[in-house]
Amino acid sequence: MPRSLLRSSLLHLLALSGTLFAPPSWGSPLPRQSDSWPYGPFVVSGPEMKNSRGDSIVYAGANWPGHGEVTLLIHAAAIAVNPYVTVLTLHIAVIPDGLQYQSIEFVVSKIKSLGMNSIRLTYAIQMVDQIYANGGKDTTVQQSFTSALGSTNGPKVYAQFLAKNPSFNSSTTRLDVFDAVAAECAKQQIHVHLDNHMSRAAWCCSTTDGNSWFNDNDYNVSNWLRGLSYMASHAKSWIALTSMSLRNELRAPDNNPTLKSQSYNWRDDYARKLPETFINYTQKIGK
Ligand SMILES: *[C@@H]1O[C@H](CO)[C@@H](O)[C@H](O)[C@H]1NC(C)=O
Ligand SMILES: *[C@@H]1O[C@H](CO)[C@@H](O)[C@H](O)[C@H]1NC(C)=O
Ligand SMILES: *[C@@H]1O[C@H](CO)[C@@H](O)[C@H](O)[C@H]1NC(C)=O
Repeated sequence: MPRSLLRSSLLHLLALSGTLFAPPSWGSPLPRQSDSWPYGPFVVSGPEMKNSRGDSIVYAGANWPGHGEVTLLIHAAAIAVNPYVTVLTLHIAVIPDGLQYQSIEFVVSKIKSLGMNSIRLTYAIQMVDQIYANGGKDTTVQQSFTSALGSTNGPKVYAQFLAKNPSFNSSTTRLDVFDAVAAECAKQQIHVHLDNHMSRAAWCCSTTDGNSWFNDNDYNVSNWLRGLSYMASHAKSWIALTSMSLRNELRAPDNNPTLKSQSYNWRDDYARKLPETFINYTQKIGK
């Protein structure tokens, strides 16, 4: 699907599909039980998701993209001035989007005021790859804005980001921003569903974007598993984290005929091992 600027607005209102699927069996009881909100762990019971008290939980949520380009919002502003010019260059900042316009607290309050109870917080595996490539150190938001937007616009937008979110500073990293979003969600009792959206940071999705199917050009399975694992460990401490999804929208690798004929349609191991991957991942977060 072509990237549409409408889709790039801050909140993508969508019902979160139940990406949790019932595993064949839970090896052992899940560790952490909590007697306070969000009453995890959630479990699947038939078609329902239930908390540790046995209440059915239904997510009504907003998508908060953190897997792509901050620049879409800037483009949207440019287009408001001249609707006939569309700039579609890919830029990567990989932090939760829109914070140059509003504070985290404002956005979460807005979501809550709409009667919603959850966000789907997306990330790109590339962010984790960069952390590994950088000796385990995450990039600062400041650097990230500059590499995404260049040395003229990067600092400008970074200054807007700081003005709206004054608790951040020049040492704030991308994951600090994810943490702050999760902390605010906990404060306001909004569930966080952490979602691996893409491997390469970019708007999703098409069948020719290299991210469509296991081991497509930009979808390296080893890096994906490493990234899932890293984010599971990282997000484990988020009180508001109640679920995660392994991958957004698997689709046909239409520009990769070899992969399509050999692997697509659940012919290979990765696909068959998804339930096991899911169990590993869930046990890791212990929720
Ligand atoms: C800078 O921000 C980070 C979180 O983003 C925080 O942990 C740190 O304490 C802040 N440093 C100062 C000097 O305020
Ligand atoms: C995936 O990336 C790893 C390095 O992280 C590399 O060793 C491996 O060859 C890559 N796999 C494919 C299918 O490209
Ligand atoms: C699940 O975890 C086990 C134990 O660490 C490991 O041997 C197995 O390969 C993992 N499975 C998948 C699909 O990642």
